[in-house]
Amino acid sequence: MRPALGDCRIYGKLRFMSRGNPLESTQEFIRRLPKAELHLHIEGTLEPELALHLAHKHGVALPYGSIAELRAAYDFGDLQEFLDIYYALAEVLRDEDDFYQLALGYLQRAHDQGVVHTEVFFDPQTHTARAIPFGAVVEGLNRAFTEAQRRFGMTHRLIACFLRHLSAADAMRTLDEVLEYRSLIAAVGLDSSEVGHPPSKFISVFDRARQEGLLAVAHAGEEGPPVYISEALDLLGVRRIDHGVRCAEDPALMERLAKEQVTLTVCPLSNVKLRVFDRIEHHNLKRLLEAGLRVTVNSDDPAYFGGYILENYLAVQRALGLTRAQLVILARNSIEGSFLDDDTKRRWMAEIDARAQDLTAS
Ligand code: HPA
Ligand code: ZN
Repeated sequence: MRPALGDCRIYGKLRFMSRGNPLESTQEFIRRLPKAELHLHIEGTLEPELALHLAHKHGVALPYGSIAELRAAYDFGDLQEFLDIYYALAEVLRDEDDFYQLALGYLQRAHDQGVVHTEVFFDPQTHTARAIPFGAVVEGLNRAFTEAQRRFGMTHRLIACFLRHLSAADAMRTLDEVLEYRSLIAAVGLDSSEVGHPPSKFISVFDRARQEGLLAVAHAGEEGPPVYISEALDLLGVRRIDHGVRCAEDPALMERLAKEQVTLTVCPLSNVKLRVFDRIEHHNLKRLLEAGLRVTVNSDDPAYFGGYILENYLAVQRALGLTRAQLVILARNSIEGSFLDDDTKRRWMAEIDARAQDLTAS
């Protein structure tokens, strides 16, 4: 049986086995770092193979005949071009078991890459608009989370995102459904087409969600201007900013984010695929990290953007020349920025710090 990476005791053993091995590859070093994923859309883990399988299962006609054709379509000019394909493919997700299969596939991969805790977005409106019951989505996802906890010791939080291109009234109706499944959902988020849909559009929805005890996050500063980041913090009361890379255009905002230690859930491969940066070598992650911002590395929509969390860490490590000490900071930030309780955070921090000590010992 594979070791359960979510279990601190087993992690201790792995650490012992790797101690003093200076030849351990960077890839292996990253894989063995306990880390949390904080920016992951479950619909974005739909691999072409599963999409075609589910299309066949439900008799859904897709405009792509083969996996190769499907992959060839993943050449996006911007966020909107991606979202158009993304929402079209979500058509194949129809019943509880589809969501279970989808999530279990992701959780297995994340576990294999050393993710010990994951905070997963889903877009209720993408499904309820097609008359898929909210309960089928949440129950399928939850069945997979329960299995991953049992098999790998992996923990999770579930985050329901509102589609910002739809109205605040639609988001408010969606919040009613979220509240019916309150015990399974930790937070609300905001995603989809950013420009022209500022956080201020959703003040009343987020006010109510927070009154109900839900935590809040929001995509801001991916394609949208830096002021959307300030709005998300000040008007929506968010605990993290998803993406946030355009903060670099506003020095005062950068200073604020560093001072308040706001977690940014950065997604490097996504940013290149959606042309936020023209190439990975031009990504500002290292600059933000060295300015003292609490940056994390995440995969966003890994089936579409060319890699899961390990590939994202590796891409920035190679292109930007991150040191192992900086990789350790990224992993620490992911635990610190998560919605885990303080005790569990402390335990994972100790595990990560032990890895960092191995570095200086070897
Ligand atoms: N941005 C906005 N909405 C999204 C994204 C993203 O990167 N991925 C899935 N929905
Ligand atoms: Zn995203």
